[in-house]
Amino acid sequence: STQTQIAGFQFNNCLMNAAGVACMTIAELEEVKNSAAGSFVTKTATLEPRAGNPEPRYRDVPLGSINSMGLPNQGLAYYLNYLLDLQNREPERTFFLSLVGMSPDETHTILRQVQESGFTGLTELNLSCPNVPGKPQIAYDFETTEKLLGEVFAYFSKPLGVKLPPYFDIVHFDQAAAIFNKFPIKFVNCVNSIGNGLYVEDETVAIRPKNGFGGIGGEYIKPTALANVHAFYQRLNPAIQIIGTGGVLTGRDAFEHILCGASMVQVGTTLHKEGVSAFARITEELQAIMAEKGYETLEDFRGKLKYL
Ligand code: DHB
Repeated sequence: STQTQIAGFQFNNCLMNAAGVACMTIAELEEVKNSAAGSFVTKTATLEPRAGNPEPRYRDVPLGSINSMGLPNQGLAYYLNYLLDLQNREPERTFFLSLVGMSPDETHTILRQVQESGFTGLTELNLSCPNVPGKPQIAYDFETTEKLLGEVFAYFSKPLGVKLPPYFDIVHFDQAAAIFNKFPIKFVNCVNSIGNGLYVEDETVAIRPKNGFGGIGGEYIKPTALANVHAFYQRLNPAIQIIGTGGVLTGRDAFEHILCGASMVQVGTTLHKEGVSAFARITEELQAIMAEKGYETLEDFRGKLKYL
């Protein structure tokens, strides 16, 4: 079985979409929901709808993808109203609402609305949006991150996790984990895209915004994603679970994320390239690896990465 749980909520499959892919509209979210995926996460919502950056702003490339979407989304009310309706239609399932404000004040306005709503699912606060020109990623500023989380947990009492960018330095793993361990966070999601890559084709960039700079996903990022999953698995209070995201093309990639400590595994670039049939394929590949190794549940190998 590839069942799992996050914050006490049960999921029939550990695979789901990564925020940003197949989750902007209700039609896309329904397609993920009705696939082999165990859950979905919405496109990161801001308080008001946003058109995002000029196109072309997402490109699939041979080894992955590059994007600078600029946070296009339908606004908080669209996703929240859909989730409230869905939780009546499918009360036995749990879904993720991804959020971030364009300012700390807006983030608090959004989270207070979620707190005061009837939403009973999981909330993911996106600390790692790299594509709003002029705005640094919150999660690369540890002082801002700690202050924001301190303010949030003064009023927010529903299950909350954070989406993180990749870190590349052992001291940054130590410092980030020490901050998250101070708060009643339910999960960290590692990783968002590797920020601000540049893809060149002949003599030209691949996307229009930011003169071609954009977040990199896909095959390029699996070793970085696994390092972040495992670094946080080693450092976080065991009550904080890990969602593994980055470079999941196959069942083998999902297996490696779980081995490094992930309780749920998200699929972004591969979902964009292949469509929702990727969930059934990757699940079958993961099940075949588990059967060959004699593993019956994810708990049989989660976090059990072997060292030399
Ligand atoms: C966007 C990209 C991200 O990586 C993210 O976390 C949120 C939004 C975007 O460009 O839309």
